[in-house]
Amino acid sequence: MTKKISRRRFVEGTSAGIVAVATVPAVKAQQKAAAAATLPGVPKTTIRINVNGVDRRVEVEDRWTLVELLRDHLDLTGTKIGCDRGECGACTVLVDGTPLYSCSQLAVWMNGRSIQTVEGLAKNGKLDPLQEAFIQHDAPQCGYCTSGQLMIAKALLVSYEKKNARPTRDEVRAAMTGNLCRCSNYNHYVEAVMAAGGENA
Ligand code: FES
Ligand code: FES
Repeated sequence: MTKKISRRRFVEGTSAGIVAVATVPAVKAQQKAAAAATLPGVPKTTIRINVNGVDRRVEVEDRWTLVELLRDHLDLTGTKIGCDRGECGACTVLVDGTPLYSCSQLAVWMNGRSIQTVEGLAKNGKLDPLQEAFIQHDAPQCGYCTSGQLMIAKALLVSYEKKNARPTRDEVRAAMTGNLCRCSNYNHYVEAVMAAGGENA
């Protein structure tokens, strides 16, 4: 049996939803300010890093993870946090070309290293061919895992010491096994990487 909802109750419910949505930016701003705040007495270290081709000198709290530094203090929010404990791969970035889970690295360990995030893929306003291939193959669904998938794929095709510019389908699957996709769009991701790598098998 269909339950009837009065117009008044419907409008009240909708208004509550709108209010909730309207307060989200304010809550996010508060969370960001809290994350960005440094606590007095907490050990800090100044590190020199290169992020997406730009040299930076940053003071970090010794307890910050790399993903915290990127997202909360350098405003590079393309890198996502899924599990925050080294299980999902959403936070994958390249450190000196090697793919690493940035949730499992301390920022202070990055002194002297080069970091590439998803923001560093496009050049001069032009998407990286890998990004183009992801779009053409409908790889991103909700998109939450996509930046991590892009970075692990970049490592496989281009930057990693074990790189393979023309991987087979199985090699792509093996390389990307540490990057989970809750939308289960694995086949599209694999096809996109195959296309970007020149379709080996
Ligand atoms: S957020 Fe780093 S592995 Fe999941
Ligand atoms: S596209 Fe949604 S989690 Fe991968």
